[in-house]
Amino acid sequence: MALLNILNYPDKRLHKIAKPVEAVNDRIRRLVSDMAETMYAAPGVGLAATQVDVHERVIVIDVSETHDELQAFINPEILWSSDEKKLSEEGCLSVPGIYDDVERAEKVRVRALNEKGETFELDCEGLLAVCIQHEMDHLMGRVFVEYLSSLKQTRIKSKMKKLAHAM
Ligand code: NI
Repeated sequence: MALLNILNYPDKRLHKIAKPVEAVNDRIRRLVSDMAETMYAAPGVGLAATQVDVHERVIVIDVSETHDELQAFINPEILWSSDEKKLSEEGCLSVPGIYDDVERAEKVRVRALNEKGETFELDCEGLLAVCIQHEMDHLMGRVFVEYLSSLKQTRIKSKMKKLAHAM
């Protein structure tokens, strides 16, 4: 296992669109395990491959309080999303220190492959629903701050640049 470097907003590579995984093989399983290690170390509840500069459709999530319920979603698709929307506060490992409200579908049904290459479907609500939509946005090159006002986005960009210089 290895810790991977997480790209920080506004890195342009965060806007790349991820390609579908062609085969769930040992390379993908290693990616999943390295992404999980990176997510737990951060610490965070979700990570998309885009954030570690791998542009393939892979997500890891663990929203459990005990941090022992890792879920990998390979080639995830949203099959259904509720008309009901919900506003909740989000953060992102690629935008450290920034938290703001984003509106998303309250419930979603997702289909994906697991690390064995098996298809599964999952009904998600609460934090898991927020997290899966947030991470799937990453795979499409979208960062949550892009839902905020342009004024806020400008402020966040300048804050991130200052932070990058300080490091
Ligand atoms: Ni994120």
